[in-house]
Amino acid sequence: SKPFVVLALESSADDTCAAIVSSNRTIHSNIVLKQNHIHQIYAGIHPHLAILSHTEQMPFTVRRALDTAQMQMNDIDAIAFTQGPGMGGCLAVACNAAKTLAIALEKPLVGVNHMRAHALTVTLTNPEVPPFPHLTLLVSGGHTMLVLVHSEDKFELIAQTADEAIGCTFDRVAALLGLEWGKRGLGAALEHLASTSDTLDPSITLPTMMPGQLEFSFCGLRAATKRIIDHKQRSGELSDRTRADIAARFQQAAVMQLEDKLARAVKECRVRGVQPRAVVASGGVATNLYLRTRYTAEAAHAGTGEPLQVFYPPLELCTDNAVMIAWAAMGRLLKRERDGYGIRPLAGWKI
Ligand code: KG4
Ligand code: ZN
Repeated sequence: SKPFVVLALESSADDTCAAIVSSNRTIHSNIVLKQNHIHQIYAGIHPHLAILSHTEQMPFTVRRALDTAQMQMNDIDAIAFTQGPGMGGCLAVACNAAKTLAIALEKPLVGVNHMRAHALTVTLTNPEVPPFPHLTLLVSGGHTMLVLVHSEDKFELIAQTADEAIGCTFDRVAALLGLEWGKRGLGAALEHLASTSDTLDPSITLPTMMPGQLEFSFCGLRAATKRIIDHKQRSGELSDRTRADIAARFQQAAVMQLEDKLARAVKECRVRGVQPRAVVASGGVATNLYLRTRYTAEAAHAGTGEPLQVFYPPLELCTDNAVMIAWAAMGRLLKRERDGYGIRPLAGWKI
């Protein structure tokens, strides 16, 4: 039978996204409009300007998604959007656009959980799909969590961050090191700077984590990194080379914490009577290649039985996009489930 075609809209943070995906796993289009010009000035997301930018860009994003797919609205079977979690005002832009299109064109509508969508991306993109149940690391600018994914619609939170999200820590440390937003963002700029360091300088010592805990915590690491940067600056030692060495040590400490929590989370799953059969990592920070190398190695001996294989979405679908939103809606839509046209954003929606 004819594949089911979904148009999805996403505006939960800074990127304005629209995509068209069909049930036979074809990505017809994937449009992501960034707000880098604004971030460059404010060194981060400016909430009010982000709403204005989404409002301005969303119609053109939808138009481009249709044009790229060479489709018209009557080729679209349903509309999906990110219902939450995210920044309230930003979420409202995709929500309103999706609802209005859906009711005017009499199409089914589905609101999607952004974090579930990050977690399910690999089931669309990867030729080999990770077996359920699996443990998923979600690392982005707003979240740091380990989730046990029992099936495409059953998620169990295992650990989250006690303070700030790892992506936020990367962004703030990058700013302290004087990096600029650039084309790919502060986190990617920090990864690049770290890659230019050829030593893991042992004189730069950083706390990795709160020992013995399942929860993540990054504030202590950020504060310690700031102290070192301030100290080197005062003593006139903050050369480009030193900045690169600090970036490398910071990245190592942050990723080491992720490795440690993976091993603990596997144990925690066993306490809950579940043996994860694979590991997934997604979200903007999971584009980091140092993280990928270390995490893959750690997972190989984090379990007691078979080595756990780690599945990552392709880099461009690890960061925010609407392809993952369309795909996460597909299961419900194919079961003929839908949401009402009065649906509202859920800024604090738990996974
Ligand atoms: O998932 P995402 O695109 O947006 C949300 O926050 O939902 O993730 C963005 C975050 C930012 O904090 C960014 O600095 C971080 O992911 N990031 C990275 C890298 N690329 C993006 N962090 C570390 N290394 C990277 N290569
Ligand atoms: Zn995200």
